[in-house]
Amino acid sequence: MPYRHLRTHRSGSVEYLELNRPEVRNALSDVTISELTAWAEAVAVDRTVRAVVLSGAGKVFCAGADLTWFTAMARYTPDENLRDARLGARMFDLLDTLPCVLIGRIHGAALGGGSGLASVCDIVIAADDAVFGFTEVKLGIMPAMIAPYALAKIGRSAARELFLTGTRFAAQRAREIGLVHDVVAAADLDARVEHSVAEVLSSGPDAIAEAKQLLRDIWHRPPREVQDLMAQSIAARRSSAEAQEGMRAFLEKRPPDWKTVL
Ligand code: COA
Repeated sequence: MPYRHLRTHRSGSVEYLELNRPEVRNALSDVTISELTAWAEAVAVDRTVRAVVLSGAGKVFCAGADLTWFTAMARYTPDENLRDARLGARMFDLLDTLPCVLIGRIHGAALGGGSGLASVCDIVIAADDAVFGFTEVKLGIMPAMIAPYALAKIGRSAARELFLTGTRFAAQRAREIGLVHDVVAAADLDARVEHSVAEVLSSGPDAIAEAKQLLRDIWHRPPREVQDLMAQSIAARRSSAEAQEGMRAFLEKRPPDWKTVL
């Protein structure tokens, strides 16, 4: 599918998805949002995709919401404005719930919705000179549609400081608060991302998808409330063809032959 603001490339079961509007630092416009939504809808039902690497073309990963588009909202009717906000919220939800592993490759800057995109990634690797920030209040707006995903990553204490000041912070701080999982020199970014890709590809595809779903199902619920759900999940999983292959391969000291099982 031809995109205006995205570039995609498939290598085996890995999809490389690049925000491709470097002249405005990959700011997220209505076009970008609708393209990311269409892309996520397709990948959500394509079980041949096991990992996605999300990156940005040019100097930075993503400068967040397209402020030219946001300022034009003053001319929108309240219904049009709300409709577009809901489309943005839906895009973040679709990215957050992809059954495959979403790996963020962050360089330069991830600001506003850029840090929101990092928040919906399962694994985030950042260059050591990358800058993060929930900068919305500096612009008189606020981090609304990205808030649930950011909060789940960084917790309420960091969110209170960072959402309320809009301050920009370094990759190392992003790692300390859980937004980023590893920080490397810019020159090592691709190699480190490929290491995570390899970790994903050596694991059971359905096991990963179910573990990701389970995380969402049990998040914020007390252990006793989810006890039966967890028992049912592992009972079904350990008797599945994929699990039997994975465990037999270990016992037979050979690599597992993972197949994408629907
Ligand atoms: N929306 C629309 N346009 C944006 C943009 C955004 N979020 N971020 C950058 N741009 C545009 C700039 O207006 C500029 O346009 P111009 O060439 O017509 O002047 C162009 O992209 C390059 O931006 P510039 O600031 O010169 O690039 P830089 O490489 O020096 O800095 C950033 C990059 C991302 C650090 C900086 O652009 C920035 O801080 N952007 C705003 C980030 C932000 O707070 N986003 C939150 C939105 S809710």
